[in-house]
Amino acid sequence: MCGIVAYIGHREAYPIIVKGLKRLEYRGYDSAGVALLTPDKALNIYKKSGKVSDLEAETADKDVHANTGMGHTRWATHGAPNDKNAHPHLSQNGEFAIIHNGIIENYSTLKQALIKRGHEFKSDTDTEVLIHLIEEVFKNNSVSFEEAVRMALTQVVGAYAIVILSKSDPTYLIGARKGSPMVVGIGENEHFIASDATPIVEYTRNVIYLNDGELVIIDNNKLTVKTIDNTIKSPYIQELEINLESIEKGGFDHFMMKEIYEQPRSILDSFRGRTHVNDATIAMAGIDKFEDKLKNIKRLLIVGCGTSWHAGLVGEYLFEDFARIPTEVEYASEFRYRNPVIDENDFVIAISQSGETADTLAALELAKSKGATIFGVCNVVGSSIPRITDAGAYTHAGPEIGVASTKAFTAQVTALILMSLSVAQKRGTISKERLRELLIELETIPSKVEEALKLNDMIKEIAAEFKDSRNALYLGRGYGFPIALEGALKLKEISYIHAEGYPAAEMKHGPIALIDEEMPVVVIATQHSNYEKVISNIQEVRARKGRVIAISTIGDEHIKDHADYVIPIPQCEEAMLPLIASIPLQLLSYHIAVMRECNVDQPRNLAKSVTVE
Ligand code: G6P
Repeated sequence: MCGIVAYIGHREAYPIIVKGLKRLEYRGYDSAGVALLTPDKALNIYKKSGKVSDLEAETADKDVHANTGMGHTRWATHGAPNDKNAHPHLSQNGEFAIIHNGIIENYSTLKQALIKRGHEFKSDTDTEVLIHLIEEVFKNNSVSFEEAVRMALTQVVGAYAIVILSKSDPTYLIGARKGSPMVVGIGENEHFIASDATPIVEYTRNVIYLNDGELVIIDNNKLTVKTIDNTIKSPYIQELEINLESIEKGGFDHFMMKEIYEQPRSILDSFRGRTHVNDATIAMAGIDKFEDKLKNIKRLLIVGCGTSWHAGLVGEYLFEDFARIPTEVEYASEFRYRNPVIDENDFVIAISQSGETADTLAALELAKSKGATIFGVCNVVGSSIPRITDAGAYTHAGPEIGVASTKAFTAQVTALILMSLSVAQKRGTISKERLRELLIELETIPSKVEEALKLNDMIKEIAAEFKDSRNALYLGRGYGFPIALEGALKLKEISYIHAEGYPAAEMKHGPIALIDEEMPVVVIATQHSNYEKVISNIQEVRARKGRVIAISTIGDEHIKDHADYVIPIPQCEEAMLPLIASIPLQLLSYHIAVMRECNVDQPRNLAKSVTVE
């Protein structure tokens, strides 16, 4: 939520910042702004509501020369998305400028106190309060700029990743984080700070992931990391794994389409090196360490939000099917505030593409505080969730830029398949033969996904039929149910068509009232355990003149008698169905959104990484 990028060094800062902001736009795109500080101490601030491209248009005739600067792309929390609320914000005296990702929860109390002491605010944001507070601490305590930032942060409740500069020193930059991510890039006589590594990767591969409660100070090209309670830290410099191609569109019109087409590779990367068909074993080093505890596990909880929650639902079916562990899936935002019953015998798995979702992180911290063993299934390496978990599995899908999650979902499901099988093996709830069969099947999935992608033209034609629909229903049973939920979410988030996913049999308890000849009903109707029952549900839809789009199994001739449109996908093990059946649903929503001229990669009001609760 909100993207930040800063540069200090010998190059022109503005092009680096703007390019970086474009890469971070997935985090929010209500407004954008930059602060540029020249060597002769001129501080130029430009900001504009709208996208980074609107900011570029705004600055087209402005002086943007500077070697120090910072920029922000916003997802509004406090204050409407307009020019005045766009970041950067200035202190009262104009000496300090700040960009911020997160929420200062006690901003209202701080603001009232500052107003009483004569401060005037130009925006409605919590961020402006923080920079005024820093100015006050600086003046009242006769301390250094760095010390003022540190002291002010001790008064702040909430989450933040901030960068602050001081007009009187263009060789100086401070960053700090608590609850929101921050990466520091170390180049040759230059430094970068950003919300993730994508703005940095083309300049340097050496980075530091700042820990919660740490500040980074760059002073005359010298970098120091210290904690908010003033302990100097020796930072761990890591080499970045991502490459430039993975964060560019590579010939596709949209990141979403590129990411849909990457799935044969991303699924393979999720299980590559972890499966050994010959001796029917799975290697998941982190989890293996918990073998004894897993053998006696009584209950498993899975937490997540959005698409990750849908992957969690698939996980519930997997862990119950294979490992015979009672499993509950929870919306992280509900779980964390519900006083859940949880103790040291419980295992909690958090699923998160970004590894930064505030609610998921908080749910996990709560479980940890109650003694549970916590695992993570995350995509972004080095993000907050993997850093606090006891063990887990990276999904290795590579950077996902499109706001609507596609390849991250199938990679999460792949990781959960492996995890559930690995736990089943430890608990002795699966035979070696069956495990081998499943591992052999998993190896076929990338080519089956490849086959499913060949349906693109056919799906585009179906999309043309339904592009003007106002509602849509997605139905499935068993593993088909989470697929239906995810399909509906994809359609509503990028095309703004109201869509609902439902267990097919539940339809008759409500949604059936919505069905008429206008209503497209997408049904997961593959030849698996509930096939006959799903066909009955299709009949119920057809009897009310609903138009059925069936996701079927290749070779099923019978289904043609029941559905208006048939999308045949390759036969697979039922547990792996989400990996294949999701593909046509992703394509369907993509084409409908493009035909409706929606912004596919950056749908309105959404952000990819939700770092506020
Ligand atoms: C946002 C994104 C979704 C994502 C959800 C959870 O709403 O738009 O695509 O599923 O957050 O994000 P996470 O990074 O935790 O998977």
